[in-house]
Amino acid sequence: MINGEKTRLRAIEREDVPRFVEWLNDPEVAYYLGRLPLLSRADEERWFEETVRDERHRILAIDTQEGAHIGSIGLHNLDWKNSSAELGIMIGDKNYWGQGYGRDAIRSLLGFGFGELNLHRIFLRVYDFNPRAIRCYENVGFQHEGVFREAVYLNSGYHNELVMGILRGEFLALGDGKKPSK
Ligand SMILES: CC(C)(COP(=O)(O)OP(=O)(O)OC[C@H]1O[C@@H](n2cnc3c(N)ncnc32)[C@H](O)[C@@H]1OP(=O)(O)O)[C@@H](O)C(=O)NCCC(=O)NCCS
Repeated sequence: MINGEKTRLRAIEREDVPRFVEWLNDPEVAYYLGRLPLLSRADEERWFEETVRDERHRILAIDTQEGAHIGSIGLHNLDWKNSSAELGIMIGDKNYWGQGYGRDAIRSLLGFGFGELNLHRIFLRVYDFNPRAIRCYENVGFQHEGVFREAVYLNSGYHNELVMGILRGEFLALGDGKKPSK
């Protein structure tokens, strides 16, 4: 359990799977993730068995401090040689968008990644039509690193994919009370 101010990060349980199916079949959520909302329960069960338990990733559930499960967050493709990983996040319950839950969960995960996992760099990819996410990442301290131009085809059009990243030293310098111990 990783405690933030508004959220708690915990292990994903099999019982969480139906909520992920519901969220990922919401066209708006799926759109921001660049997915088609065509996910079956069996697909998500497989994701739980194969990806959530895979040592190359650390994927956690996001709960509110009151105990409502609202999404997931993870560090993917952990690269131990370069001490780097890619962050992904979904607040699937749209009632919780835009209220600081994402920022809080990301701060907690960065503290875990730079502290417990001793990472040096955490990066992410985000579509240019997702200003809420971009603003959230900027608020946490991610820097804009580059653009994959017209890299994604969605809704009959091509869109840019932005790369953003934060280094361990930059996170430490923020001094927001979530400093890693090392
Ligand atoms: C992206 C996501 C994780 C952000 O979490 P969140 O809790 O909604 O975001 P926060 O409230 O922490 O921060 C959002 C910021 O964007 C701002 N914002 C909200 N809607 C906005 C909009 N349409 N345009 C610009 N800024 C917007 C908010 O005001 C806030 O900034 P502020 O704190 O400076 O006022 C969440 O919305 C989500 O999971 N969305 C669906 C899936 C998704 O997009 N995942 C990310 C894929 S890269």
